Amino acid sequence: MITPDTIQRVRDAARIEEVVGDFVRLRRRGSNLIGLCPFHNEKSPSFSVSPAKGIYKCFGCGKAGDSLRFLMDIDQLSYPDAIRKLADKYGIEIEEREQSPEEQEQAQIKETLFQVNEVVAQWFQEQMWETEEGQIAALSYFRERGFTDETIRTFRLGYAPKSWTGLGDFAKEKGYKEEYLQTLGLISKSERKTDVFRERVMFPILGTSGRVLGFGGRYLVKKENSPKYINSPESEIYQKREVLYGLFQAKQSIIKEDECYLVEGYTDVISLFQAGISNVVSSSGTSLTSEQIRIIRRFTKKVTLLYDGDAAGINASFRGIDMLLEEGMEVRVVLFPDGDDPDSFARKTGTDALKAFLQEQAQNFLAFKANILMREAGADPLKKAEVLRQMADSLALIRENFTRLTLVQDCAQRMDVPEEMLVSEINKRIRKRISERKTPELNAANPEAEEQQGTAESELSSIPEPAKSHKQVQHDTAQMELIRLSVLYGNHDIYFPDAEGEEPLKALTFILDELAKDDIQLPNPLAQQFLITLDAIDEEGRWDDLHGVFIGHELEAVRNATLDFLQSPYQLSQYWEVRHNILTDKEDTLLRKTLTHILISVKMNVLLERADLGRERLKNIQQEPKEADPEAQAQRTATELEILAEIHRNQQLIARFAAELSRVIIR
Ligand code: CTP
Ligand code: MN
Repeated sequence: MITPDTIQRVRDAARIEEVVGDFVRLRRRGSNLIGLCPFHNEKSPSFSVSPAKGIYKCFGCGKAGDSLRFLMDIDQLSYPDAIRKLADKYGIEIEEREQSPEEQEQAQIKETLFQVNEVVAQWFQEQMWETEEGQIAALSYFRERGFTDETIRTFRLGYAPKSWTGLGDFAKEKGYKEEYLQTLGLISKSERKTDVFRERVMFPILGTSGRVLGFGGRYLVKKENSPKYINSPESEIYQKREVLYGLFQAKQSIIKEDECYLVEGYTDVISLFQAGISNVVSSSGTSLTSEQIRIIRRFTKKVTLLYDGDAAGINASFRGIDMLLEEGMEVRVVLFPDGDDPDSFARKTGTDALKAFLQEQAQNFLAFKANILMREAGADPLKKAEVLRQMADSLALIRENFTRLTLVQDCAQRMDVPEEMLVSEINKRIRKRISERKTPELNAANPEAEEQQGTAESELSSIPEPAKSHKQVQHDTAQMELIRLSVLYGNHDIYFPDAEGEEPLKALTFILDELAKDDIQLPNPLAQQFLITLDAIDEEGRWDDLHGVFIGHELEAVRNATLDFLQSPYQLSQYWEVRHNILTDKEDTLLRKTLTHILISVKMNVLLERADLGRERLKNIQQEPKEADPEAQAQRTATELEILAEIHRNQQLIARFAAELSRVIIR
């Protein structure tokens, strides 16, 4: 094990611009360097390196981190290997702590298991390519399935021969202990110690870095009492919950495409891959687990599920898919025509037709779920109520308020129920979740980091946060959504349809004007911090480097929130995305509408809060005993009237905004 001291020395020595510079041509821009992102395809540079902070960040695909992270991602290195590589580059000697004998033995066993699996995978390949039995039984089977020889080699497919002891004999010859082969599920543990995989085509299951973790074997001849597939058991090197079939071959393209297709099994992965869709994986041997989802999320947040058209199967998997939503993934679904699965469909159509089909057919998962459930429920009101609850279950899992709002509108329409019904079901679930969660989010920052932050920072994070009401949470979310839009789109021009010929307005200017007009301040302390900086940017017209200003902001809470915003950068609502930061006419209209919508919500909330405060003050005054002095009493009455007038003004504004809100409908 590398000592913490060494790790620190490596970290100190590594200069981000030099480490990245080995892979990316960088040029200076201000205090940063920029270049073409090595993690996704792009023509103009959005990959930025900050020598001062020792980090890089791509504004196109969201990849970010320090020198070690960069090496791990670009070279697919493990953490210790990345440290070794950097130590080598900077001539730092690596000190290793002695491993305990148990640790050493454990590591040794794992290493041997990997080696055995590797040699066995090679043996299965040999049996297919180089024996007559294998060529006739397996190679011809794969070729008939339409796999090219190149594909067969890419996925290292092979053949386990008919013999009862072929693999066992081979292993003995090689000197591998039977115990290892049994642990790996290659040789049966019974008395007879025969091969487990016989007369099957073999799919090795590879880890992220290409090592063989286990195997899936499909029968060639259907037999009674013999399952279609046999899969390796769990072992020290194969934890099914954490493995995705095809990821080794798919990972680069998942990053490039910023999307991951999820299919049912080995053959679907391979067929799609061969048809040119290489960003595809399947969860093998288990239904989808949260560990697998988190692995995918390292590469992309967008998952598209490919299903064959049988509704029963889809229905059963709804539960699993909710997990994707819970992990913050954007889930879409493509349904294949009856009788087809991704594999058969890919074989029938060409690459282009397949790609077009996937593009056209992909629908938002929730819309898809609503349709299926509604079809089943028919006109039965009880069943319909149950569907409403099921949809609310899923919708409540979506953390991002704005996305959820748009989806709620869409679902309500599809289900032909009033939006409020759905909202109230969802709110019940969110309230429950909030009451179960104890730590307020703003305070949940890393405690170690907190110590090092400046005074402004600790002020910000130490603002006491009483348990928030549901209304309060919504209000906070609306404010932060407004901030997010300001940061992401503040530099866009907005045109107003009624004011023809007039100069467009910067979105940020529009937002700030709107807030100032009604004297609105944002009560959320984090939002307020953003607002101060946004004001300065607008004042000075520094719209070009809007993101950069916040990435480099002095407050960590602001920096972190900005990184969050930039995670899914060009998304205004789930219905459309801004491509390459250019808005079409339609999208421009949508930006204006979206901003107006959120501005009104924020204003309404602020005014409602103010009205509440006013009423509170009024109540307090009225509860006090009457003043003896008539002068003082008159003074008090005047104050009361003032408060009443303010409440009244507020109410008029609220009514006005409510009317405006109902006019702005986002689609
Ligand atoms: N599968 C499995 N165990 C089984 C059956 C299926 O693990 N007993 C998994 C495999 O990963 C398989 C996927 O489910 O690739 C899809 O099953 P299926 O379509 O039945 O397998 P194929 O080999 O594609 O068979 P077919 O040629 O009949 O489509
Ligand atoms: Mn199949």
